[in-house]
Amino acid sequence: MAPSSREGTDGLAVVETGPAHAALIAALRAECFDDGGWSAESVAALLGTPGTFALIAEVAGKPAGFILGRVAADEAEILSIGVPPALRRGGIAGRLLDAALTRLGAAGIGRVFLEVGVNNGAARALYASRRFKSAGRRPAYYAKPAGPAEDALVLSLGLADAASA
Ligand SMILES: CC(C)(COP(=O)(O)OP(=O)(O)OC[C@H]1O[C@@H](n2cnc3c(N)ncnc32)[C@H](O)[C@@H]1OP(=O)(O)O)[C@@H](O)C(=O)NCCC(=O)NCCS
Repeated sequence: MAPSSREGTDGLAVVETGPAHAALIAALRAECFDDGGWSAESVAALLGTPGTFALIAEVAGKPAGFILGRVAADEAEILSIGVPPALRRGGIAGRLLDAALTRLGAAGIGRVFLEVGVNNGAARALYASRRFKSAGRRPAYYAKPAGPAEDALVLSLGLADAASA
């Protein structure tokens, strides 16, 4: 996709991308989430916002996951991350998250925040594996098609702490 892609020995590459690949990211995201999806237009608008970035994972040249984030001053937020169901538990999200954290650390970002549903065991385990810690709770944050809304946990990671761990 882009000449900046970083390929590992397992054939997984992480590629920095932007608004030109909004439709691809929207399609990947729709495979990963059942929240009604983000349109290609909304992803393009998001990626046109200053400070926003996107990385895509590729396996054998095919899209295999994504991560979206946003920088504000010396802090950053992970906005969304997903890997299609058939490709999960292969280390793709971990590689995407590591690449994003490396990028943010190199840019001098001190702390990264994100929100995760309290019942999202896979994502909570992913973030715990990268030493994110709880920084708060937002009651009834994620609306559900049926049943009560789900609380979100706010997690954060100090990049200086992560680098020295
Ligand atoms: C969460 C998600 C991105 C993980 O993607 P993945 O590629 O399967 O994750 P990885 O294989 O890189 O896992 C990295 C680590 O996370 C943890 N983990 C990931 N999925 C897990 C699961 N289902 N159960 C337990 N631990 C899990 C493990 O510690 C794992 O390391 P290990 O495989 O060495 O044990 C994926 O399940 C997904 O797309 N879910 C739907 C979208 C979503 O919820 N996104 C997060 C919103 S906050």
